[in-house]
Amino acid sequence: LVIVLDFGGQYNQLVARRVRECNVYCEIYSYKTDLEKIKAMEPKGIILTGGPNSCYEADSPTYSKELFELGIPVLGLCYGAQLMMHVLGGKVEKADAREYGKTEVIVDKTSSKIFEGVSKNTICWMSHFDYISQVAPGFEITSHTDNCPCASAENTKDQLYAIQFHPEVLHTQEGTKMLYNFVRGVCGCSGDWRMDSFVDEQIKAIREKVGDGKVLCALSGGVDSSVAAVLLSKAIGNQLTCVFVDHGLLRKNEGDEVEAVFGPEGPYELNFIRVNAQERYYSKLKGVTEPEAKRKIIGEEFIRVFEEEAKKIGTVDFLVQGTIYPDVVESGLGGESAVIKSHHNVGGLPDHVDFKEIIEPLRDLFKDEVRKAGLELGIPENLVFRQPFPGPGLGIRIIGEVTADKVRIVQDADAIYREEIAKAGLDRSIGQYFAALTNMRSVGVMGDERTYDYAVALRAVNTIDFMTAESAEIPYEVLNKVMSRIINEVRGVNRVMYDLTSKPPGTIEFE
Ligand code: XMP
Repeated sequence: LVIVLDFGGQYNQLVARRVRECNVYCEIYSYKTDLEKIKAMEPKGIILTGGPNSCYEADSPTYSKELFELGIPVLGLCYGAQLMMHVLGGKVEKADAREYGKTEVIVDKTSSKIFEGVSKNTICWMSHFDYISQVAPGFEITSHTDNCPCASAENTKDQLYAIQFHPEVLHTQEGTKMLYNFVRGVCGCSGDWRMDSFVDEQIKAIREKVGDGKVLCALSGGVDSSVAAVLLSKAIGNQLTCVFVDHGLLRKNEGDEVEAVFGPEGPYELNFIRVNAQERYYSKLKGVTEPEAKRKIIGEEFIRVFEEEAKKIGTVDFLVQGTIYPDVVESGLGGESAVIKSHHNVGGLPDHVDFKEIIEPLRDLFKDEVRKAGLELGIPENLVFRQPFPGPGLGIRIIGEVTADKVRIVQDADAIYREEIAKAGLDRSIGQYFAALTNMRSVGVMGDERTYDYAVALRAVNTIDFMTAESAEIPYEVLNKVMSRIINEVRGVNRVMYDLTSKPPGTIEFE
């Protein structure tokens, strides 16, 4: 076990993920975690993450000196590196200029264990205002940049390592190697952790936790909740009931497809309940245009419908959610990062459902890790590699007010888009792609008639973890075909646009 101590940076889960990529099990804990608790877990290594504060200011997150005296290797990253120096008697100061972005780091000590196999000049991702102006006693500087005299330092005697840049970010070209060198080399972790261990451990943990209790799961049919449901079904079979709320904001035919897999005709052992709540949603969303208000209504209503079903079932002991890590971060629950969007499967929980506890078996995983877990569980590939689909569904792909007619337009346009992408053999190579309905109408001409119809936006992005994304390059002929089919086949559309925005500054969805 390696412990990642969270000091509130944006990339904390990435650190954990890179460690898992080295086949080393790792868990994230708040920097407020008690030293005794850390000792009791007997970690082989500790990593301190970055964070937005300045370590020399009075109420900034900190940790006592004893952490560095446990005889356990510690790696501090960015804020974590500065904190290590600050606590151990070095000096951290505000720099004249912020160092941000891809930066060349020159390795001064090529024999450092951290830099084993790393080039002498290597591109790293920097993001800091403060810098280490003096290392703590016992430390030696191991690399620098043009602006930063200490890009990394180490005290090999006490097994303490500090890195100013972010090895966890892919822009640091040899960052994964550095983390590998720390967890496998310095900490001596054996590297036998695999996704199948995750699945087995989760099944075991779920069985232990649930006993003969009853479990209720909100199934959306998306990858996350499907993987969560199958995991639960494997662990506890018919003790699991899945409620599938069709909110009328699903992709074309999706409700029936979900029922085919998870319903009584499907391969899994569980109780399946489908609720058709389309009308209810449309009436709640009538006249509402503000994105967060829409998200809140969809989330709230989901909970109300869910509660009603739960009441019919009676007391349950546990509630399962298919929350994955990016949901947690973007809803502002993952440390101190700002709220970007309130994700509907994280923020709200039913208050009138009687349950003891929530189970979120995928809370620490990124999407691609969830897919690996899905394959490990034997879920069919077409489901595992299904397009990610947000909880609020088409509700956030229709800019402005949602109506049944707009849902029809976006469903039909999206179905055509997906069909053509699949025909072109691009469906596996693009991270996420969908049609959205802009709230813009414009003048066109069809036949000899003037039209005043909606513009559909096509979006396609490539992403590794959905935290950042770039618009995908789709051959012009494919886009042209999609455009022409949408305009010809979908009533109410006379214009099709392709969205080139990356994330950041855009997000993947429109609202
Ligand atoms: P954004 O738009 O935030 O999307 O860049 C990142 C990824 O998250 C999905 N997404 C959601 N998933 N509930 C979800 O389960 C939500 O409320 C939600 N909002 C966005 C989005 O489809 C993309 O894959």
